[in-house]
Parts: sequence; C-alpha cells; structure tokens
Amino acid sequence: MCEFSVNASLCTRCGLCVSDCVSNIIEMGVNGLPSISPEKKGFCLKCQHCLTVCPTGAVSVLGKNPADSQPISGVSMPSFEQMDHFVRGRRSVRHYKDENVDPALIDSLLNALAHAPTGCNAQELTFNVIDDKDVMHRFSDQLVTALLKAAASDESEHPFLQQVAPLPREAIVNIVFRSAPHALIVSAPQDAPCAREDVALSLAYFELLAQSAGLGTLWWGFLRLTSGIVPEVKPILGIPDDHEYYAILFGLPKIEFARTAQKEDAAKVRRVTL
Ligand SMILES: Cc1cc2nc3c(=O)[nH]c(=O)nc-3n(C[C@H](O)[C@H](O)[C@H](O)COP(=O)(O)O)c2cc1C
Repeated sequence: MCEFSVNASLCTRCGLCVSDCVSNIIEMGVNGLPSISPEKKGFCLKCQHCLTVCPTGAVSVLGKNPADSQPISGVSMPSFEQMDHFVRGRRSVRHYKDENVDPALIDSLLNALAHAPTGCNAQELTFNVIDDKDVMHRFSDQLVTALLKAAASDESEHPFLQQVAPLPREAIVNIVFRSAPHALIVSAPQDAPCAREDVALSLAYFELLAQSAGLGTLWWGFLRLTSGIVPEVKPILGIPDDHEYYAILFGLPKIEFARTAQKEDAAKVRRVTL
C-alpha cells in the first residue's frame, strides 16, 4: 500500500511529517518514531509530503528512497523576478521549424510534468504525444480530409466548416496546425475528482516548461473544435470517449519575440472586503 518507513538513526522526532500529512494519518508511535497504523494506510494520498518535508531524509513512502529526490534550497529555485519576466515573455507561437524536437528533451518535459498538481493527487492523466513530424503530417491530412468530407455532406451546418470549406486545403491545415511538428494531448477520466482542472493545469505547466527549454507552444483549441465536428479522429489520438481532454502544439520556434506584451489592464482585480 503506502509502504511508509522511517530510518530511526536519521529521524529527529521533529514531527514535521505528522503535521504536514494532508490525510492526518501519521502519528508518533510508542517508540517516538512516526508511523501509520494499518487501518489508516488506505487513506494515504501518495503525495509524498512526508518524504519531502523531512529535513534529514529519514522518511520513505511508496518504497521511495529520499536520497533519490533532488535537494531543494533557496538558491536552487528561480527568483520571483525571473519567473515574472518569464511569465510576461511567454507567447503563443504560430510559426515552427519543420524539424523534430530532440526526443530526450520531450521525455524530460513529460517526466517533469508528472509533478504538476492534480486534485486529490489523483494523478489519472494520460499524456498522448505526437513526437514525430511525419505522424503529425499524416494526422493533419486525416483530420482535414474528415473536415472537408463533413463540409461536403448535406447535414453539416457548423459555422467553422462553412468558414473554412471555401479555402485552399493548405490554408485549412495552417489554421488548425500552425506548422507545429508535435502535439501533447492530455486526458483524464471524467470521474476523476478534478478532471478538467488537472488537464488544463498540466498543459499550463507543459507550456512553461517547454518555453523555458527554448520550444514554442500553442494551446490547441482547434483540436477541440474540430474533433467535436469529426469525433472519429479522437481514437487516433488515444482519447477515450469518457475522458476530458485538451491539447497543445509545440516545436522549435521559427520566430522570436523581442519584448513583452503590456497586459496589466487585461484582468479586473477586485479586493474582497468584509
Ligand atoms: C484554451 C486556449 C485555446 C487556444 N487555442 C488556440 C488555437 O487553437 N489556435 C491558435 O492559434 N491559438 C490558440 N490559443 C492562443 C490564444 O489565441 C492566445 O493565448 C492569445 O491570443 C494570447 O496570446 P499569447 O498566448 O501570445 O499571450 C488558445 C489559447 C488558449 C488559452
């Protein structure tokens, strides 16, 4: 189950693992060491707070060795100024090089993405990746063929189809795919505690991680739109019918932005007073 254990020679009995346990299932045992009684083990959220908060690395959970974690210190994190500049500098990229991204980088991004928060720590996300530009070309071909077929059928009155049907095929491909060689499609079962939020959050984290690694990204609302019109494309991407999903395009950017946008007045800020 949660495989909780404490190294008695490293544990200082400080109680931090007890107080930071979200499920409140860790208690100081008779020997002064933290423990979880067998009947409470099923309530473990598997969040690993006990392992990560322990100053001396005495706590193991889920069979994890604390020595395998990356140490965190004040200087190991980006500063607020760096993050502020980074968030302001993030942009949607709609022009990509016709090149594959290094698969090792894609793997690193997806590994880091497993650390994005999920409601109740459900971790029920599936990451479907198009990591090969030739696969992307074939998928764009299939999607646009399906859209044009739907547009040609008598029943279809979808405004998007009416808008794009008169355009040349390459123009439709460009509107939907924006020359991106790759895509990440994230899905979660609809009955996960926070399915939609988890999906959106993981993509937001992916966008920031990818842009910090020099990649361009573009939230892929057109996938949602078009897969609503031609749902037969969803299984190609591995999206089950009972999953919430959203997607993002990514690749090596062909453009660079020279300055940040000025969006200070973009959101209304209201202070709640009582
Ligand atoms: C949920 C979501 C879906 C989006 N879908 C698309 C899309 O399919 N195609 C596109 O060109 N831009 C898409 N965008 C990008 C927005 O148009 C863009 O974020 C907005 O214009 C602000 O520009 P910025 O991201 O560069 O700050 C989407 C953005 C979001 C948040």
